[in-house]
Amino acid sequence: MELTGKSCAISAIKEDVLAYPVAEGGAIPNELKEFTKGMSDKQFSGKCGESWSATTLEKMGFSRLLLVGMGKTEELDLDAFRKLGGTAVRYGISTKSASVAVYLPKFVKIGDPDAARAAAEGAMLASYRFTRFKTKKDDIYELPKTVVVSEAAECVKAGVVLANAQNYVRGLNEVPANLATPASIAEEARQLAKEKGFSCKVYGKEEIKKMNMNAFLGVAQGSVQPPALVVLEYGSKGPLVAIVGKGITFDSGGISIKPAKGMQEMKYDKTGALVVLGVFKAAVELGLPVRLLGVMPLTENLPSGSAQKPGDIVTACNGTTIEVINTDAEGRLILADALAYAAERKPDYMISIATLTGAALVALGRQCAAVLSNDDKLSQALEESGTRTFERLWRLPLWKEYSEMMKSDFADLKNVSDTSEAGTITGAIFLKEFVGETKWAHIDIAGVDMINGPHPYLEKGASGIGVRLLVDAVSGLAGK
Ligand code: BES
Ligand code: MN
Ligand code: ZN
Repeated sequence: MELTGKSCAISAIKEDVLAYPVAEGGAIPNELKEFTKGMSDKQFSGKCGESWSATTLEKMGFSRLLLVGMGKTEELDLDAFRKLGGTAVRYGISTKSASVAVYLPKFVKIGDPDAARAAAEGAMLASYRFTRFKTKKDDIYELPKTVVVSEAAECVKAGVVLANAQNYVRGLNEVPANLATPASIAEEARQLAKEKGFSCKVYGKEEIKKMNMNAFLGVAQGSVQPPALVVLEYGSKGPLVAIVGKGITFDSGGISIKPAKGMQEMKYDKTGALVVLGVFKAAVELGLPVRLLGVMPLTENLPSGSAQKPGDIVTACNGTTIEVINTDAEGRLILADALAYAAERKPDYMISIATLTGAALVALGRQCAAVLSNDDKLSQALEESGTRTFERLWRLPLWKEYSEMMKSDFADLKNVSDTSEAGTITGAIFLKEFVGETKWAHIDIAGVDMINGPHPYLEKGASGIGVRLLVDAVSGLAGK
């Protein structure tokens, strides 16, 4: 979708739709009062989630007016502007309008630059549809040309970059495992790197063997699709931030196989790795003053005659031995090697992001992801980024007492504890053994990788959540 910024008066709006935000009990500008005469408080009072529309008289440049509720002024947050952008674009689509203007008057609580960026994000995110496999015309339609009208029109660009990076991740993640193989994702990474001008190295199975990544290889050995390790690098100044993302292109559970119901959703088990790719795309386009190291271990987790078995013991590349009690706890196995590899580069900060545990969904639902960290400042920076981007995080502890639960009778570690208690914590406790002294945070996105119900600006399916969060966090770390 074409999305730009400009600044002008209401009277100069020539787009088909004018979307205008109104706070609860807020005033409607004089120019618009003529159109809202018949509107009662019951129909629209400016509550968050409310909207009201009318077709307008010919004397205005626009033909439809859409009022969008922003909620109580005291509670106004950035996400209200994403919702505004999303509501405007959805309205434009449903009315088959050729163009939409999202008008941003001054808000006391939120500055123009932040509001413009957030509205642009919401608009662009709402324009996303995954139509690659739709062959009927009815499923495909035109998107309205959209413009965010703001005093800070220049900030629209950053919003577009961020939302496009998130949409890029959503589109890739939606591709199912018969097409999105480790090799095809590695190829996608190569293409993006070439196009954007960052470095990308792809290691194949033999090279992964030479790197002694046997925890990673153990997961891969059940599949006929060879694994791949993608390593990305960007930037030449600023602190080094490593981002490591879980890239399971399909998680059947392996020999510890999952139940059939809902298993198709395990195509999303590659979200973490794709988020890494999305962060690189946005980082280059925004020119972030930071050095990034991206690590994406990619493989399927399947049962077969060659698959890894419960009880198998593998040695990770840092020498740690692991008893594989449950082959369905595969994410931590591939991340163990990937984190140890990244830690060798002595990054200033390291962040892992993964659809790691169903327990994260049980504990926190779909409203936030879990963050676990060995560094309070890093965790806090991430939590603050989560509030700004509305990709919210909630911290869980990594107290040393939990470590007991992951000790094996026969190896250094086991990959699952004896009980299902504290599943998200024990998963991260396992990972912690592979980060050494590095300042590290782990983000478990198992509850937020997909949207499964109504959302103000995201469609059902892959959410791409994590990209805007990490770009915001990394930009903050760049200044430290
Ligand atoms: N990919 C799953 C976690 C998951 C579950 C993500 C649901 C999204 C939605 C992960 O590999 C897994 O299977 N984890 C196990 C761990 C258990 C065996 C300790 C789980 O959560 O059941
Ligand atoms: Mn699993
Ligand atoms: Zn998994």
